[in-house]
Amino acid sequence: MTIRQLTLEDCQAVADLETQLFDGRFDAAGLRALLGKPAFYGAVLPAPDMPITIHAYCLAYITSMQADIIAIGAEKTKQGRGFGQIVLQHLIDVTEQNNVAEITLEVAADNIAARRLYDSCGFHVSGIRKDYYYRGENRCDAVIMVRQRDSAFP
Ligand SMILES: CC(C)(COP(=O)(O)OP(=O)(O)OC[C@H]1O[C@@H](n2cnc3c(N)ncnc32)[C@H](O)[C@@H]1OP(=O)(O)O)[C@@H](O)C(=O)NCCC(=O)NCCS
Repeated sequence: MTIRQLTLEDCQAVADLETQLFDGRFDAAGLRALLGKPAFYGAVLPAPDMPITIHAYCLAYITSMQADIIAIGAEKTKQGRGFGQIVLQHLIDVTEQNNVAEITLEVAADNIAARRLYDSCGFHVSGIRKDYYYRGENRCDAVIMVRQRDSAFP
């Protein structure tokens, strides 16, 4: 499987994954608009021999100093197979090639799979947004995580 940059043709497939995983924060039109922004970077991992079927994706803003991951996901039936790690490592590689100092992201405290992924890729906790997410009648913290360019895998 070969990871590649998000294109206009991928926007509907990624929007469908956004609906599946996050109740659709980005629709296809919104993703097409993001593609026009200079700081936006998107990556997709297509299925082998089926380039319009997307197994995993990552969306970010990358500037000279900092990158912000705004979405990462793997198709529900394909989770736990290393695809999330592939797209995240690709994003890390892109930032390192561009000498970006740090990558930040936000994750719900109860999202165990995502937190394991970020831990294993060299992210550490830099802050907490208390009671940020709703869980029915309960609340859940948001965890801010950062990966410094030179401090990963000490
Ligand atoms: C988070 C997500 C992107 C991870 O992608 P993935 O392809 O399932 O994960 P991988 O197979 O690459 O595994 C990465 C790590 O997560 C761990 N992991 C994956 N699924 C897990 C699960 N259900 N429970 C616990 N750990 C899990 C793996 O063991 C691995 O950890 P390790 O490196 O310490 O062994 C994916 O689960 C997903 O799309 N979740 C829904 C959307 C989401 O929550 N996105 C993140 C928002 S911040």
